[in-house]
Amino acid sequence: MTVTDPQTSGVQAAGEGCLHFELGEELSLVQDEARKFADDVLLPLATKHDREESISDDVYRQIGELGFWGLTIPEEFGGAGFNNQALAVVLEELNRACAATGVAVSVHNSLLCAPLMKFGTDEQKARWLPKLATGEALGAYSLSEAGSGSDAAALSASATRDGDEWVLNGTKLWVTSGDRAGLILVYMRTNPDAPKAKGITAFLVPGDAPGLKVGKHEKKTGIRGSATVELILDGVRLGAGDILGEVDRGFPVAMDTLAGGRIGIASQAVGIGQACLDASIKYAMEREQFGKPIGHFQSIQHKIADMSTKLEASRLLVRRAAWLRDAGMECNRAASEAKLFASQSANYCADEALQIHGGAGYTDHFHVERLFRDARITEIYEGATDIQRLVIARSLLR
Ligand code: CAA
Repeated sequence: MTVTDPQTSGVQAAGEGCLHFELGEELSLVQDEARKFADDVLLPLATKHDREESISDDVYRQIGELGFWGLTIPEEFGGAGFNNQALAVVLEELNRACAATGVAVSVHNSLLCAPLMKFGTDEQKARWLPKLATGEALGAYSLSEAGSGSDAAALSASATRDGDEWVLNGTKLWVTSGDRAGLILVYMRTNPDAPKAKGITAFLVPGDAPGLKVGKHEKKTGIRGSATVELILDGVRLGAGDILGEVDRGFPVAMDTLAGGRIGIASQAVGIGQACLDASIKYAMEREQFGKPIGHFQSIQHKIADMSTKLEASRLLVRRAAWLRDAGMECNRAASEAKLFASQSANYCADEALQIHGGAGYTDHFHVERLFRDARITEIYEGATDIQRLVIARSLLR
């Protein structure tokens, strides 16, 4: 154990027996790379993505070149081989600049690549991971339907056996990146007679599968650059090799996957919140009223202080949840706690940032107007705030 003498140095080095609150060399490098890309490329494009309701093809390409599509995919499959802690750090940076791009990277890594790596067969991994690592195939996740949102197990789109094949029929909703995905993890009811959660199977549906159609594109309040679409499965035929995990055991796959996804959305919330704080500090030091910068007034200082404190607490919750998941430890409650607190904090920060910017913040003169709209979804998707509370309470009241 290396412990610097506190008497001479004044600090205790981070050795064994110490908690680590720094990223370490490798993670710092990844963070620098993500931060540079976010500042140089994403931030200047964020308004364009928002207005045009799409992410530019060049951004998808550059994310591939940086290795962020394959961030958590093992090197043997062409990925960068990083863990969930690195993903959290990268997602925070990307979302600070453009939450529409950030959610695409989060969904791809945590809702598609992660379950494929965890539950996939060798053949499935060899078939898909190399394409997912480069971004040649973009990943999506399709659980929700018109009648099943928070009550995910109520889904009714069905898959029935036909000889060696499965035939998929039904309509799914709210599929992030579903319009251009190369591979979609789709949950279908395979046993209508079983209790709700016991008759669901997870299918790996290629984006170009015959019978798969992209339906309505949702018009959204925020993250407008990210496509959210309806998917129609009209007689899509798949083989047994396209099932992820076991027949009728797809719901636990969906839930375990969402625990990881929730850490991704919590990271997104921290990124959006940080952008709100950064913008507020800048504006508070520039904008003068009553003869001095508004940041010299206590009412503004208190807002900045509360934003910063909530963000730091959120970041710690996010990194702890990612650390637990990397360690293979139980992380459902930690993931939900991180998402609950970080998403509420992001909305608090967005609200205060807009207030600090006053009338100008309510216009498109500043990014805070977009951040205010983008923050809102973090309390809704991948499990609404009350669902996070339900997961947390259930794990405590057993
Ligand atoms: N890991 C593994 N298994 C789990 C699990 C987990 N984290 N959580 C639950 N399970 C298992 C249970 O053990 C149980 O298995 P058994 O039947 O073998 O005992 C089974 O799953 C059913 O669990 P529950 O009884 O808890 O299920 P429930 O019907 O009560 O639902 C819920 C629980 C938490 C409310 C769940 O429905 C839920 O998370 N709802 C929110 C859905 C959601 O987050 N949707 C987001 C969709 S993705 C998206 O937002 C779009 C996007 O692209 C960004």
